[in-house]
Amino acid sequence: MLDLDISITLQHRIRFTKNVFALDNTVLRDLFAPGVEAQVIVFIENKIVAHFPQIEQEIQSWFSTVAPQLTLVNITRAEGGEYCKRSEEVCREVMDAIEHSKIDRHSYVWAIGGGAFLDVVGFAAATAHRGVRLVRFPTTTLSQDDSGVGVKNGINLYKKKNFLGTFAVPYAVVNDFRFLYSQPAQICREGLVEAIKVALVKDAEFFLWIERNVAGLAALEPETLEECVMRSALLHAKHIAAGGDPFEMGSSRPLDYGHWAAHKAEQLSDFRLSHAQAVSIGLALDTLYAWKKGFLTEEKCERVLRVLQALGLPLWDDSFVIQTPEREFALLNGLDEFREHLGGTLTIMLLKDLGKGFDVHEIDHARVVECLEILKSRA
Ligand SMILES: NC(=O)c1ccc[n+]([C@@H]2O[C@H](COP(=O)([O-])OP(=O)(O)OC[C@H]3O[C@@H](n4cnc5c(N)ncnc54)[C@H](O)[C@@H]3O)[C@@H](O)[C@H]2O)c1
Ligand SMILES: [Zn+2]
Repeated sequence: MLDLDISITLQHRIRFTKNVFALDNTVLRDLFAPGVEAQVIVFIENKIVAHFPQIEQEIQSWFSTVAPQLTLVNITRAEGGEYCKRSEEVCREVMDAIEHSKIDRHSYVWAIGGGAFLDVVGFAAATAHRGVRLVRFPTTTLSQDDSGVGVKNGINLYKKKNFLGTFAVPYAVVNDFRFLYSQPAQICREGLVEAIKVALVKDAEFFLWIERNVAGLAALEPETLEECVMRSALLHAKHIAAGGDPFEMGSSRPLDYGHWAAHKAEQLSDFRLSHAQAVSIGLALDTLYAWKKGFLTEEKCERVLRVLQALGLPLWDDSFVIQTPEREFALLNGLDEFREHLGGTLTIMLLKDLGKGFDVHEIDHARVVECLEILKSRA
């Protein structure tokens, strides 16, 4: 018998900047060793090219002027948004481009886009040749304050979110705040839901800061918005790096607070609800539930709902009332699916205070229904 420990240390390089491809911006240059030749293939969302028509030229100039040791082999445009995770088309396009460009394990794949696009390109990069180096450039609030700094990727299959996917630490993540401002205002605001989530389970002081600054956040004041994105990203990244379970082998999932319902809500609405909107409903539901179970005071529960509403986030969607043979609210099936997806015992994070999450292993379905009724009547 032989039991060996295998341990490796991976570096999670996260950068915040503005105008990353400007020729005098050194953030990106400093991520690559000078004099070490490598190939780079760039994937960029169509919408980013539409909003920044010069971006491909900027990238080309960056390569020729700032990092001549790197060879830009190709810039490929593709469709982003949730669609790209649902169809196999985009993943295939990315794989094809990686293959045609002879990208190897010492080359880099750059992905510029929202969370969905990064998930697809990240999945292709993590599986092609068993993993090539990925540099993410998240372009939405949600991907900058959460998913982009995470270590997961994935595509949807069997109508299930992220059914196919891997854990892979990207080579680097570069959050360029410039991208935040081309989003429609409401989408920009809604992406802050993951900042609220991580504050609620990890950092009371950050939640109070969000509460105090909610008007500035709703108005998308740049300084407030960027601080919120950065604090959220750092909390997420620190949990991954120091939380003891970066590849989610255990059952506790603090960063998935509110997500059992959110994933089901996205599916029930046939993806009409965005991930951010669905998470808002999930947070509202689980926070109400904590109050109804006596873990959280009503006053604190109301404060959470108020912050979500101040950012124009929804607390309810009519698609949840689809009657199923087993259950009145189809949303409840999300609990089983959450457990199936993660394996092990059902583990759901709840709040015992603002900024303090704790795990439970049982959910009282009658109480969830009661909370759904409350959310429905409030809507
Ligand atoms: N891998 C993870 O750990 C993780 C964590 C959380 C969420 N996610 C996933 O991330 C996805 C949601 O990401 P998202 O909220 O970024 O949504 P998204 O990627 O669907 O982007 C939202 C919309 O904005 C567009 N867009 C992107 N950047 C833009 C910009 N700068 N200006 C204008 N439009 C822009 C996109 O084309 C899309 O239409 C979901 O699929 C979710 O499951 C993954
Ligand atoms: Zn999420």
